[in-house]
Formats: sequence, C-alpha cells, structure tokens
Amino acid sequence: MYKITPFVKWAGGKSQILNEIIARLPDTYDDYYEPFIAGGAVLFAIQPHNAKINDINTQLINTFNQLKYSPDKVISAVKDLDGTVCDKEYYYRNRDRYNEKIKNGILDEETAGLFIWLNKHCFNGLYRVNNKGLFNVPYNNKTDGSSMVEDNLKDIGIYLKNVEIYNLDFGDFCKSVKENDFVYFDSPYIPESETADFTSYTKGGFGLEEHKRLAELYKELDKRGAKLMLSNNDVDLVYELYDGFKIDSFDVKRMINRDAENRTGREVIVTNY
Ligand SMILES: C[S@@+](CC[C@H](N)C(=O)[O-])C[C@H]1O[C@@H](n2cnc3c(N)ncnc32)[C@H](O)[C@@H]1O
Repeated sequence: MYKITPFVKWAGGKSQILNEIIARLPDTYDDYYEPFIAGGAVLFAIQPHNAKINDINTQLINTFNQLKYSPDKVISAVKDLDGTVCDKEYYYRNRDRYNEKIKNGILDEETAGLFIWLNKHCFNGLYRVNNKGLFNVPYNNKTDGSSMVEDNLKDIGIYLKNVEIYNLDFGDFCKSVKENDFVYFDSPYIPESETADFTSYTKGGFGLEEHKRLAELYKELDKRGAKLMLSNNDVDLVYELYDGFKIDSFDVKRMINRDAENRTGREVIVTNY
C-alpha cells in the first residue's frame, strides 16, 4: 500500500480528525461505501479493498474517473498548466476555459487537469458554482508552486483501478448496501449555529430536510445490518436525529481566517457498532 493523500484541498477535509476515524473503524467488513467522497482523505488513508465511492459533484467525480482511467493524461494536462507562471490574467483565462468545458458537458482529462490546477490557484481551495453551475471562485494571488505531486497522482491512479466510482445522490448510491458492509458518511455539516439558510429548504443545498433524510437512511441501513459511521458538528440536532446510537464528541481546531488563527470547535462521530 502506497501512502496517498487528497489531490485537492476541500472544505471540511478530514485530515485533522483522521486518527479519531481510524481508531473507530470496524474490525471487519465486506464492502466499503463512501457516499460523500469530497477530497477522499479517509478513503486514501485506509485504502479498503472493495470500495465504492460517490459524490454529487460531477466535476469532482470526473477527476476521480480520469485519474482511474488516464492518470498520465491528467498529469500532463496539469504540467501544461503549471508551465506558465500564474498571474491574474492566466487564472481567469483558465477559469473561463474550465467553464466552457462545463457548458459543453466535456468531461475529459483536460477538464480534470483544470479542476486540480484551479483548486491550487483559487481562493482558499473553495469549490463554488453560480446558479448556472459555473465555477466562480476568485484568484488567490499565488504565482508559485506546482499544482500536484506527480507520484501521488500516479499512486492514486493505481489504487483507484479497483474502486467503483459513482455520481449519484447519496440515497440512490446506498441502495445496494448489504449486511456487514461499512458506510462512512461525511455529509456537509450542520452549521454550529443554525442559520435561516439552513433551516429553510434551499435548492441543491444540504439543509434540514437533507439531514433528516440522511438520518432516515442511517436507521434503514442499521436495520439492514450494515456497520455505519457518520461525522458532524457537535450540535443538539445531531443528538436528536441519531438518538439511540453511539455518539463520541471531541475537540477540533478550526481555521477562521487566512492568517490561520485557530479557535476550537467540537465534532462528533456517530457509530452503530
Ligand atoms: C465537503 S464534504 C463534507 C465535509 C465536512 N463534513 C464539512 O461540511 O465540513 C461534502 C460532500 O458532499 C457532497 N454532496 C452534497 N450533497 C450531496 C448529495 N445529496 N449526495 C451526494 N453527495 C453530496 C458535496 O459535493 C461534497 O463533496
């Protein structure tokens, strides 16, 4: 097993609580399911044998697929982009190129290369799209640096060869979960203080209704005999939704601004085993 790490920085990346997750993994299970894969920090750390991964973000999933089937082409696409020192004009030109790909529905190795490159040059590594589905994160004003670690991408490509990759809603993805499979859920978190945005239904967002739907699924899969782990913020709603399951709580450091000034928050891990 090679050491591999996420190829993108993603909001809510799990690197910080990885040890807490690994310490609580079940001893044995059949298939591994991860319905909200995002950057893949947990998957890459444990590299399970029979893994199925999923995310609703089509561009992210295209990048996983391109790394699985054509890692060398993705690497040369990123190398081409890194061949020019990034300035504002270059950033916005490439962002436009990427959005043209989205508009035309082109999911190829160049789109994947742009996805990786933009993640390194956009503000805070955010992934945000406008109401037309176009990427709209501004430039982070950094000119330097390679946008990838080539060997890491190659090793990711090797590992992904045996991973099944899906682009579905989490409910559809989990339909095939069986007794003794393991599912790790890392959905968008419930905000530490609930906002109007969260409690009212927002199209495409992950609000209260989605969290209720996720908790229903958790209970259904529990009855099916699957082993389940879920992470979230330590907020009252989680204790209501997952009443009766094991809930462990611990401190995490949170970055609140670009100067990396830290403050502490609390997160939970909910398990049914
Ligand atoms: C970023 S991770 C969560 C990270 C962390 N829990 C947090 O909020 O800080 C959430 C992932 O879920 C995906 N996602 C959102 N809604 C989804 C849905 N209905 N089905 C599957 N994936 C979804 C997003 O695209 C994203 O990659």
